[in-house]
Amino acid sequence: MDPKVTIVEVGPRDGLQNIKNRVSTEVKTELIRRLYDSGLRTIEVTSVVSPKAVPQLKDCHEVLQSKTIKQLAQAHSVRLPVLVPNIKGAKIAHEYGVSEVAVFLSASEGFSRANINCTVDQGIARAREVASEAKKLGMIVRGYVSCIFADPFDGPTPESAVLRAVKELLSMGCYQVSLGDTLGVGSPFDVRKLIQALNENDVPLGQLAGHFHDTYGQALANVWEAYQCGIRVFDSSVAGLGGCPFAPGATGNVATEDLVYMFNRARVATDVDLQKLVETGRWICSKLDIPTASRASAAMSAK
Ligand code: HMG
Ligand code: MG
Repeated sequence: MDPKVTIVEVGPRDGLQNIKNRVSTEVKTELIRRLYDSGLRTIEVTSVVSPKAVPQLKDCHEVLQSKTIKQLAQAHSVRLPVLVPNIKGAKIAHEYGVSEVAVFLSASEGFSRANINCTVDQGIARAREVASEAKKLGMIVRGYVSCIFADPFDGPTPESAVLRAVKELLSMGCYQVSLGDTLGVGSPFDVRKLIQALNENDVPLGQLAGHFHDTYGQALANVWEAYQCGIRVFDSSVAGLGGCPFAPGATGNVATEDLVYMFNRARVATDVDLQKLVETGRWICSKLDIPTASRASAAMSAK
């Protein structure tokens, strides 16, 4: 198995969506540019969702029309996926020349209602329509399953519900499904157990990615465990930014700096320049006026 990992940087979308104070479009596009300059080649740049649901990203139109995005979209082997909840989002993304969208659904009912205002069944049906429309428009489609271990309202999520959501997303044509521990409650034990269960039920490991939030400080350990289980794609967020407005109490994603540091130490290629990434993390934290959640960044700054 190829040891190399691919990082999907979700800072500009997951990282910023939960920030209360308005972040200017210029800062968002500059962040994307700096992430690219650090070596990241897959960057989820924004979402096209209801502006009432996520006011921070209502400038997705300006981001997608920006010079930065236009330039980066031309660069070699760069992917700039955009999160969309419905056909409206997919059509808008297409109008701006987006070539990859991500659809999302929850394995559990409570979060599904809170996040996308529908049941799990309706979420699956909606994602299927979106995937079908996106493919017709020539875009490739990634999928997310949220609440793989627990739901903020319903408690623990049964493995069977995650399996169903993953299979549905694969069957509607998602080339990859990212497993979202939205609440950041899972531990490496849970990660191994779930991945094994999915694999025993014919889900190919090569089509899975890990998306771990760090509420309980388990995210980096979870990445490593998933790597040991054979997963090679991980979502992460510069400076550990992130969180979902509809998952109260959950904190950010695993910090990209920490993930790169860990894989560097393990001699696993990520093709990311850690020093440049740390500088990017410091820069965005100074713009947002918050401390970094990346331990590697804090340690490297203290030197
Ligand atoms: P709804 O209220 O049921 O739907 O929301 P609606 O169709 O009635 O639309 C309501 C309003 O939103 C209307 O505007 C629509 O036009 C507008 P109004 O007529 O009231 O002025 N609207 C849109 N505007 C722009 N772009 C669109 C769009 N769609 C509708 N695409 C809906 C349902 C799904 C739209 C809403 O609940 C929504 O947008 N939810 C998204 C919430 C979200 O973005 N959550 C965070 C991302 S998911 C996440 O973070 C988890 C993840 O990271 C993985 C993990 O950690 O687990 C991916
Ligand atoms: Mg997330």
